[in-house]
Amino acid sequence: MSEQNVNKGRRRMLTLATSAIGAVGAGFAVTPFVLSMTPSARARAAGAPVEVDFSKLEEGVLLTVEWQGKPVWIVKRSDAMMQKLATLSDLLSDPDSEVESQQPSYAQNVARSQETHPNISVMVGICTHLGCSPIEKFAVGPASDMGDDWPGGYFCPCHGSKFDMAGRVYKNVPAPTNLPVPPFRFLSETQILVGENPEEGKA
Ligand code: FES
Repeated sequence: MSEQNVNKGRRRMLTLATSAIGAVGAGFAVTPFVLSMTPSARARAAGAPVEVDFSKLEEGVLLTVEWQGKPVWIVKRSDAMMQKLATLSDLLSDPDSEVESQQPSYAQNVARSQETHPNISVMVGICTHLGCSPIEKFAVGPASDMGDDWPGGYFCPCHGSKFDMAGRVYKNVPAPTNLPVPPFRFLSETQILVGENPEEGKA
């Protein structure tokens, strides 16, 4: 079962403590259990897939879960967000996600998601420059503090890298590649498993 902790603060970020497949949870609540595990069991648990229920996630809100010690973002993008993705190619370094290491093959598309659920974005929230944590800038235009033409996306405050709503990096910023997309598969319309690829033929 998942345990959600909703933060409706200024950034509208939503953090979810999850239980991972393989009987290890996320966060401090499970520390005693984790400490009692053998080193090999801990190693297995650290890489275990994480099941996420996003049934309560609203459009345009960032949900963060932990997988392999890394923040993974899940966003249900609106139609307006999706439509903008196709208009940004000229501004981006790798609009077609040709750097293969940055996503599984099933996410090598404009939305960088699975064809069955293109509006669901799943990404590792670590900047590909020097590893800072970008912040969501989903507001468009002047309300974003990112300029009048900002179409919504992510901004890394460390050295100014910018990414679109699919995690594609802009040209002329320090980050060299798009944000990584981890392996993930859908368990239902509102549940995903982060850390595992779809079964053959179901991407
Ligand atoms: S770490 Fe993100 S721009 Fe440098």
